[in-house]
Order: sequence, then structure tokens, then C-alpha cells
Amino acid sequence: MNIQISDASAHSVTTRGLFVGLYENEKPSECGLGRLDATLGNRIEAAISAGDFSARFNRVLELYGGHQDGPRHIVVVGLGERERSTTESVRRAFGTLGKRARGASCNDVTVLPPLTGFDETAQRNNTIAALEGTALAMYRYVRRTHNVDRFPILESLNVVAGEDINDDVFHQAVEYASATINGVNFARDLVCMPAADLYPETYAQIALGMGNETISVEVLDHEKLVELKMRAILAVGQGSTHPPCVIHLSYEPKSVNDKTKTFALVGKGVTFDSGGLDIKTAAGMRDMKADMGGSATVMGVFRALNQVRPNCRVHGFVAAVENMTDGNAYHPGDIITAFNGRTIEIDNTDAEGRLALADVLAYAVKSVEPDAIVDLATLTGACVIALGHWCTGVMSNNDELVELLQAASDASGERIWRLPLWSDYKQQIKSEIADMKNTGGRPAGTITAGKFLEAFVDKTPWAHMDIAGTATEGQFSYTPHKELGTGVAVRLLLDALLRWE
Ligand code: BES
Ligand code: MN
Ligand code: ZN
Repeated sequence: MNIQISDASAHSVTTRGLFVGLYENEKPSECGLGRLDATLGNRIEAAISAGDFSARFNRVLELYGGHQDGPRHIVVVGLGERERSTTESVRRAFGTLGKRARGASCNDVTVLPPLTGFDETAQRNNTIAALEGTALAMYRYVRRTHNVDRFPILESLNVVAGEDINDDVFHQAVEYASATINGVNFARDLVCMPAADLYPETYAQIALGMGNETISVEVLDHEKLVELKMRAILAVGQGSTHPPCVIHLSYEPKSVNDKTKTFALVGKGVTFDSGGLDIKTAAGMRDMKADMGGSATVMGVFRALNQVRPNCRVHGFVAAVENMTDGNAYHPGDIITAFNGRTIEIDNTDAEGRLALADVLAYAVKSVEPDAIVDLATLTGACVIALGHWCTGVMSNNDELVELLQAASDASGERIWRLPLWSDYKQQIKSEIADMKNTGGRPAGTITAGKFLEAFVDKTPWAHMDIAGTATEGQFSYTPHKELGTGVAVRLLLDALLRWE
């Protein structure tokens, strides 16, 4: 997606749609819409004073311009009370507009972010939020074979300032929004891809195409995984005709010195989770093409890094593997030795994500010695039960890292909630014949999975994000309601990386 900064004023843009926001109990002129409303014959103000429209949060007023050279379709969204306005409320309000335009198959839109009456920081945040809200809401997953006329996609978005704003601040905000939008929508595309199209080899092909001046890509293929003794991810992949692989992306900042920090991101990339021999029910299996959502988020972050350019090193790892049933599949009761030498008793072949992550976390810690490591995974159904689709579960061995993620969460609007990792929980994954087993029973299923992963990162500051509830079935105005993938945590992590430097 390309975002064009237009020199036109709001009243003279010529796109089909013009999206603007209005605060409650304010005149259009107080929200930078005075000139536009005058061009419209003061119809916005008339609607308000007649009591036909109030700018309460998420209320929408649609007007037809009726001018030859001006916007044809003006959509005003209520932003609620100005004092209660946040970056997230602006994102959600413009998401509401984006969803309407998507429903109307309109792909020619200009956005006027709420800038009037705000300081520079809020102007920057509101610009990003208005663009993200609009473009993320208008997302569609379109395979090349689809009829593009029936499913028009938003290829470019226009933005006007309509108000005094520092040129550099505005340009940087627009550039940042275009990076996050492309990153998030790329992650969504990967999640939406059918398992017949996206499996470890094709995943590696896509990743290899992402190299550029700041990003390099290496693929550890099946042979290499055997050589490295990554027997946990190999066990998970045994039943599939598609051998597993590990994708390693590296981002190098422009200038480095001995203080430059290294950050590692690891994503669960189970391209399909049938459950293995502990096979899932039909309903439970239906959307398991999305079980690579954690790795899609890592890929989305890398898609944006070349534009965002934080001053830290970033390594991304994708644990790409398919969990299938077959004569060669791994069995319940098997005992395997992971990359770091720990032995694992397989209690349930459907707890495959933590096995793949165990090897890749240990490999990441050993190979790049990161200052901090974050993994993302659609790991447990229990997390969906605990937190629903509104919030990502976080577990960590390091308070400072959680604080950093929380700050990024507050800034991005992508919610997280921490769960404890008290050592008592370890009892649930104790095995009589191996160092541990791969399941801990029904109680605290999210935490025991986190406890399992903790054993593979040594003392490295680490956080685990269980996105089982948030990677799919988006519930926000700017997340897809028809498509599966949400691209969750791409924006959060980009924000975190900028705080980290
Ligand atoms: N991929 C699933 C978790 C999942 C479930 C993600 C629903 C999104 C929606 C994971 O591999 C899994 O099957 N977990 C099991 C673990 C159990 C066997 C200990 C689960 O949650 O039931
Ligand atoms: Mn599973
Ligand atoms: Zn899974």
C-alpha cells in the first residue's frame, strides 16, 4: 500500500470517498472542517443543529458532495468527547469508516486525520491512527485467481493535513503508518493462505524473497535440522510429506557500536495442525491453517523493518512445520531429545507448537545470543477461554521486558495481559521417564505451556505471547471480520523495537 500525501484541501480532493472525524459538541470549524462544510452548503452543521447527527463515538453521517471538483462521498465519523480521545479511539473510529467503504467496495479514499487543537505528539499519533484504522479495516485477502472486479482492494490511500502541522512530523507519521499497514496486512495474507499453498518449503520461498539492503534471510532445511539435532521440530514434522524448516531473518541497523542491542523474535509456524495422531475434531481442525499466526507476525515485522529502521539488531525465526497423521507420524509416548539436550515425553501430539518452539528458542538463544527474546504462538485453546479474542496472554521471566511490551501495548492499542509463571506449575509437566512432558492437563493450560517453553531460553530475558485468541477472529473495527488473520502484535512489536534502541 502506497499512501499519497495530497496537497489539496479537504474540500477540493477528488477521490470518491473523503473520511473525516468530528468531536462531540463541537462545530465543524473547531475540527478543521469549516471550509469543507461551507463547500457542502453547511450541511454538516445543519445536521448537528437539527439534532439529526451527534458526533458521539462511532456515529456516522454520510453526505454526497454534489460538486464536480470535490469529494463525491463525504463520511463523517463521531469521535466522541475530545477530552476522552485517544490514539486507539481515533483508530477505531476510522476503522468504522473503513469497514463501511469496504462493504461498499470503494477503493478510492482520502483521509483527513483529526489534527485541529492537538499538540505535535497527538497530531502524529492521530495521523497514524486514522490511516491505520482506515487501511486495516479495508483489508481483503485476495488470491490472484480471484475476480478482482468483485473484490476491489485498496491499493493506495490519500491523506490531507487540512491543518497546520510540521511537515517533517506529518511525513514521518505517514511513512510509519504505511510501514505498519503493509506489515500487518502481509501477516494477514500469510495467515489466510490455505495450507495447500503455504507449507514449510513455500514459506521459505516467500521469506527468501524478503531480503533487501537491511535484511538477510537464511533457511535451515531438513538436512540442516537433522545435523543440528533439532529433534523436537523434526518429530512434529515426521508425519507430513512436507519436511520442516527453520527460517532465520536478520535485520542490521545502519550504524552499530558495542552498545547496539540484539532482539530475537520467534514465531510458531505450524502451517497446518491436524493434531497429529491425537487428532482434532472436525470443528477444532477447521481453521488450523492459521496455526502459523505467530510466525506471520514475525514476518510482518520484518516486512516493515526496512521502513521503520530501529537502531537495534533484530533476528526473526520461523519454526515452519506441518503436524499431520501418517504411518511415519510421531506417537504419544515417544521420548525425544530437543536441541538443548532436554528430553521430552510426548503426552499429546496436539501439543506440537511448544515442541517446535523449544528447539527454535534454544537455537536462537545459542546462535545469536540476544539481549531479549520474544516468542509468539497460537499455542493454547485455554488462552482463548481465559482472555477471549480481545487480548494476548503474556508470560515472562523478566519484569523489565514486560514493562517494555506494556508500553508498546499502550501505544499501539494491542492489548496484553500477563499470566504468572510460578514454579509450582512445573509440577504439572513433570515426567517420570524424561525431563518433562509436553502437556500439563486442563488446569492453567496456557501457563503450563509457558512453563514448558521457559526451560529452553536459559537466563535470557524472554517473553512468550500466546496469540491463540487474537491472531484470528478479529473483533475490532479495524480487524477483518470475514477473513481469518488479524496480523496481531506486528504494530506492538515495531513500537517495542523503537523503544528498545
Ligand atoms: N494450535 C493449537 C491451539 C489453538 C487452539 C490455537 C484453538 C487456536 C485456536 C495447539 O497446537 C493445540 O492443539 N493445543 C492444545 C494443547 C493441549 C493438547 C495440551 C489445546 O489447546 O487443546
Ligand atoms: Mn496442536
Ligand atoms: Zn497448534
